[in-house]
Amino acid sequence: MSRRRRVYEGKAKVLYEGPEPGTLVQHFKDDATAFNNQKRAVIEGKGVLNNRISEFIFTRLNEIGVPTHFIRSINMREQLIREVEIIPCEVVVRNVAAGSLSKRLGIEEGTALPRSIIEFYYKNDELGDPMVSEEHITAFGWATPQEIDDMMALSLRINDFMTGLFLGVGIRLVDFKVEFGRLYEGDMVRVVLADEISPDSCRLWDIRSNDKLDKDRFRRDLGGLIEAYQEVARRLGILFENEPKRSGPKLVK
Ligand code: TMP
Repeated sequence: MSRRRRVYEGKAKVLYEGPEPGTLVQHFKDDATAFNNQKRAVIEGKGVLNNRISEFIFTRLNEIGVPTHFIRSINMREQLIREVEIIPCEVVVRNVAAGSLSKRLGIEEGTALPRSIIEFYYKNDELGDPMVSEEHITAFGWATPQEIDDMMALSLRINDFMTGLFLGVGIRLVDFKVEFGRLYEGDMVRVVLADEISPDSCRLWDIRSNDKLDKDRFRRDLGGLIEAYQEVARRLGILFENEPKRSGPKLVK
């Protein structure tokens, strides 16, 4: 077997050349990092769970007409995706105060926000992904005003969809981060959802206990990260073990 060409390696994923032009293989690693790589660990099984959860969410989003880079699952750790040009802006959507918003504005974690809030961060590890405004994004040419509009509209649709999806299985979607890419098709270019959506990139709290079912378990040394991610997968009905594949979310009454 010939070795695949590695196109890009990030903190939690590797991208390899895909089987056809314009495709890539997205491989989920077990590496966990926080605070821009200052805190690091390998958590066995995390990549498999994130691949599964992200695949599930991207498939559901495709079904409701949110364009994504996702093509199909390849194996437990890998998925086939369309090659896109990543827009260097991370989009965070918040429904409940937590994390850096609580810290920056002194709002107690868990406070419901008056409405969903969108924030942009400049994707640059050396600078620690600083928060930026739309003015910065357009002035420095990271994205056009139309692309910002597209990213905001898609982010709000993703938020509405995921809020309902998780609420149905007893989980509060506190906030999440998404990334978008430019998909070139002939002389057309459009903005599509890229990267991943998983407990690494969301805050997910149990609706009753407020238990954290996301990467804050690692960031805050709470332990039990794999168990929490498994719980998310189990509730979504997509845990591999003794679970019929594609049984779908289990409604919590
Ligand atoms: P924050 O409160 O630390 O700004 O995080 C907001 C959301 O974005 C939270 O769900 C975690 C996610 N996130 C990432 O996925 N990657 C990052 O690098 C950061 C800082 C946050």
